[in-house]
Amino acid sequence: MKTIGDRIKHRPWLGWVLFISTMIIVFLLGVLTYSIVERRTAGEFAYAITTDIDRLDPRAEAWGRYFPRQFNTYAQMADTTFRSKYLGSQRRDLLDVNPRMVILFAGYGFSRDYNLSRGHYYSVQDVRETLRTGAPMKAGDGPQPATCWTCKSPDVVRLIDDMGAGEFYSLMLSDTGHEIANPINCASCHEAEDMSLKIALPALAETFARMGQDVSGFSHQQMRSLTCAQCHVEYYFGENNYLIFPWDEGMTAEDMARYFDKRGFADWIHPLSKAPMIKAQHPDYEVFTTGIHYQRGVSCADCHMPYKTEGGMKFTDHKIQSPLNNIAAACQTCHRQSEAELIRNVYDRQDMIYEIRTKLEDVLVKTHLEAEFAWKLGATEEQMSEALHLIRHAQWRWDYAAATHGGSFHAPLELARTIGNGLDLAHEARRKITAVLVELGHTGDVPLPDVSTKEKAQKYIGIDLEQLEANKERFLVEIVPEWLRLTAERQQRWDEQRRDPDHEGSYIQ
Ligand code: HEC
Ligand code: HEC
Ligand code: HEC
Ligand code: HEC
Repeated sequence: MKTIGDRIKHRPWLGWVLFISTMIIVFLLGVLTYSIVERRTAGEFAYAITTDIDRLDPRAEAWGRYFPRQFNTYAQMADTTFRSKYLGSQRRDLLDVNPRMVILFAGYGFSRDYNLSRGHYYSVQDVRETLRTGAPMKAGDGPQPATCWTCKSPDVVRLIDDMGAGEFYSLMLSDTGHEIANPINCASCHEAEDMSLKIALPALAETFARMGQDVSGFSHQQMRSLTCAQCHVEYYFGENNYLIFPWDEGMTAEDMARYFDKRGFADWIHPLSKAPMIKAQHPDYEVFTTGIHYQRGVSCADCHMPYKTEGGMKFTDHKIQSPLNNIAAACQTCHRQSEAELIRNVYDRQDMIYEIRTKLEDVLVKTHLEAEFAWKLGATEEQMSEALHLIRHAQWRWDYAAATHGGSFHAPLELARTIGNGLDLAHEARRKITAVLVELGHTGDVPLPDVSTKEKAQKYIGIDLEQLEANKERFLVEIVPEWLRLTAERQQRWDEQRRDPDHEGSYIQ
């Protein structure tokens, strides 16, 4: 009997036939496997499940029963150990890291307390705990309106559905403390019946409507960013604390400054310089749209909620976090560079932006203190008005760049431009103040106080941290447990009512 080798030796074309047919079989097998995986994935994505989730149910567990993978990854946000060079999910006292912010935010809540965010899982708890929300001991107490809850909880979706947005915003945070209990979760981004993405909160849709656009017309890929843009945006409180995104003139720092100037809007008057200030919130979406990833069609979810595979099932990772904790899924699906190289790319951009941002901070701190000195020497409003307008604009540009925590990576060029313009305005403000000082007979340097640490800076602006902390402690011990008790009761009643087929009406207590 001849071996295959012998046969091929005599008839070389047979070798080619064998080779080519093997290749064809391998190719066909490959196609088959791919189509099986594809079909399984498509099956998973079509989620032909019909759930009986109530669209207003604010509890992640209620939704999670149907979607254990998404729920389990969501619940991993409880872990706050990851820390990158500047960001991550660890709670970090940013005023301690950067005491300049105490002076810049003097007279405003952020000078009391400003922590790096820990993530969606903690959104409600963090609002209760921050010194910025004070210690409201009874319903109706200040300092903050209910509007503050808006981007913290799907309980807000439920309340707005019931009472309307205007009514909700006109309440105080303390009026609704017992209603707001569940952190950001499923109902903030999903329709209940088919789990498609939705804009659950009204402000974004209202903003687009003002600009003649209808959110229902946006593509699926756009929705993978727009669900985030419900909250990760610049906003302000208008009449009766109505939540508004100031996008009517455009989304750059200059466009929004023009918007605020036209309305004569100020969040607060700075107690040292007396400048009418605008607080930037977190224009993450706006800044992102000026960056290269947005321009190449990449969405927020691509990096912060990449796909994950478990047991052959592909699904969306719901642990929303710094992508640096997940480079393989977040970046290497598109980039073939090493993990170390990609991290370096991110840190390089952040380092460069922080370098110039810090320069602007230094100038701004001096400007506020020098303006304070000019007032003390008897400067008039007329003498100071130009300088104050410049301080307002310079600090707005700084804050626009600082408050968007991911911005130094999302769009470094736009932030460098914005900070550069801020520096120009801040130097101009200082020049004006120097001229006023000369008119008042003062030449030479202004004697500046030592505000180089959080403690010193807070003391200088008159913050009594111990008192604030003691009040907060009382609030957490005496008031919050009662809020939690009422919530537990409501949620139990809700489950009972849902079992009653005839129940109609409000879920609000
Ligand atoms: C309902 C409002 C809301 C929506 C919708 C929302 N976020 Fe957030 N996000 C927040 C708030 C509030 C925080 C800060 C929570 C805290 O730390 O207490 C936060 C924090 C984060 C953080 C910081 C996490 C960390 O570990 O430091 C990231 C990243 C983030 N969000 C990304 C996203 C992305 C991406 C989307 C869209 C897929 C999104 N968010 C949708 C409100 C929202
Ligand atoms: C901040 C917004 C946000 C929140 C909160 C959120 N999701 Fe999602 N979810 C998304 C995005 C974005 C996708 C990807 C959708 C797409 O591209 O089709 C997604 C996809 C899904 C899918 C489709 C299958 C998949 O994995 O891609 C399911 C099911 C799902 N989420 C369930 C949940 C559940 C359950 C919760 C609560 C525990 C939840 N989601 C919370 C934004 C969110
Ligand atoms: C869905 C695909 C996709 C994902 C995911 C993605 N990128 Fe990119 N990235 C791009 C594209 C496209 C460009 C533009 C490059 C081009 O067009 O040549 C880009 C550009 C860049 C650049 C150059 C930007 C500049 O300033 O010029 C860096 C750095 C980068 N990406 C890093 C990352 C990192 C880090 C991650 C993960 C956190 C990531 N990318 C995730 C597609 C992606
Ligand atoms: C190309 C990948 C990519 C895209 C797309 C992207 N981000 Fe980021 N994002 C990052 C990286 C990288 C960081 C920096 C993380 C770090 O330094 O730890 C970051 C940081 C953040 C942070 C701060 C995180 C923290 O720990 O405090 C938030 C919030 C955020 N992004 C939200 C968004 C939103 C909202 C969108 C869409 C509008 C978006 N990102 C789009 C890669 C991306």
